[in-house]
Amino acid sequence: MTNKITIHLAMLAFLVTMPVFASKVSIPTPRKNEPIQPIPLGVEAHTAKVELGKMLFFDPRLSKSGFISCNSCHNLATGGSDNLPTSIGHKWQLGPINSPTVLNARFNLAQFWDGRAKDLKEQAGGPIENPKEMASNHELTDEVLSSISQYVELFRDIYGDDDIDIEEIKDAIAAFEDTLITPNSRFDLWLKGHDEALTAKELEGYQLFKNKGCVGCHNGVAVGGNSFQKLGIVKPYPNDKILGRFNVTGKESDKMVFKVPTLRNIELTAPYFHDARTWDLAEAVKLMGEYELGQDISDEEADKIVAFLKTLTGEQPRIVYPVLPPSTAATPKPDRS
Ligand code: HEC
Ligand code: HEC
Repeated sequence: MTNKITIHLAMLAFLVTMPVFASKVSIPTPRKNEPIQPIPLGVEAHTAKVELGKMLFFDPRLSKSGFISCNSCHNLATGGSDNLPTSIGHKWQLGPINSPTVLNARFNLAQFWDGRAKDLKEQAGGPIENPKEMASNHELTDEVLSSISQYVELFRDIYGDDDIDIEEIKDAIAAFEDTLITPNSRFDLWLKGHDEALTAKELEGYQLFKNKGCVGCHNGVAVGGNSFQKLGIVKPYPNDKILGRFNVTGKESDKMVFKVPTLRNIELTAPYFHDARTWDLAEAVKLMGEYELGQDISDEEADKIVAFLKTLTGEQPRIVYPVLPPSTAATPKPDRS
């Protein structure tokens, strides 16, 4: 009898506490109606090709001087860019434009500030031949890689032939770049329903980012990268030395039109704008208000927007530094001329 009562009481206690318990384990509800979407946690990848692409990305022998690799200007230790106003290339030449990050570049509608390359594969050939960047040419890079037996084997395993050519080089580099995503930023966690991921100030910054209209151009997975827009919509931009999209289309209306840059990891990639106009993120925010929106953004508002922008820094790709195969007697020597 006593036993029976105890059991009943235990059951009753369980029934009473269960709903309380369930309400404590709240399952986050993703915020699906926001103009920004989280970065996927992973991407499908051909592992061997990605590894080869990583070696090529870090291999300075793709440059004429044997000194400059993709990573020189897109340093994966510093947010995929070089933190210089304009990059330093072959023979210490200064390039004309700020280097954009390679992180999350796969989400761009096209590559380069003016979108002149349609995708990462097409883009990868450019810097190798650019006399101000790596100053090599495709025959030379094929010759360099073909002289290194380990490379020959890796290319053969993946592409099934003995001739290394530039199409394969570009394909492998692009496969590596495809994996350079930065998921799990605090903002993405918030988008996935984790309310505690953002502070009140950061959330206010995000509301300002939406209400002021920043989100009209900086939206989607990469918070940018998905449209071309005029720099200086409401007020002409003072520096019009580089004309942007006009150089690709020749259309008058495309003068000063640029690909909207991603704002992911923006705190890592100063200086800002294609002409590196400022090192200060708050100033960049105010300039956007001035030239793109015709709005005065106060110091306090800029401070909040910057707090929000810093929540866009995600997990950086964990790169194991590749050990590159040694050159042979047949490998062309570095040429600094
Ligand atoms: C000397 C510095 C330098 C080197 C070396 C270099 N880049 Fe770049 N990269 C730049 C600059 C500057 C730009 C922007 C050029 C433009 O838009 O006109 C750029 C643009 C890019 C972009 C486009 C990103 C975007 O958002 O539009 C990608 C991707 C890229 N580079 C990948 C590479 C790869 C891969 C290599 C190696 C094969 C490489 N870069 C070598 C400086 C460099
Ligand atoms: C009409 C479209 C548009 C609007 C609205 C807009 N932007 Fe931009 N944003 C751009 C373009 C285009 C660029 C690239 C400009 C250039 O050529 O350097 C840019 C660049 C930036 C950069 C520098 C990125 C880098 O990597 O150098 C930041 C930061 C930025 N925007 C933040 C904002 C903020 C904050 C707002 C709202 C106050 C805003 N933007 C509103 C189009 C826009």
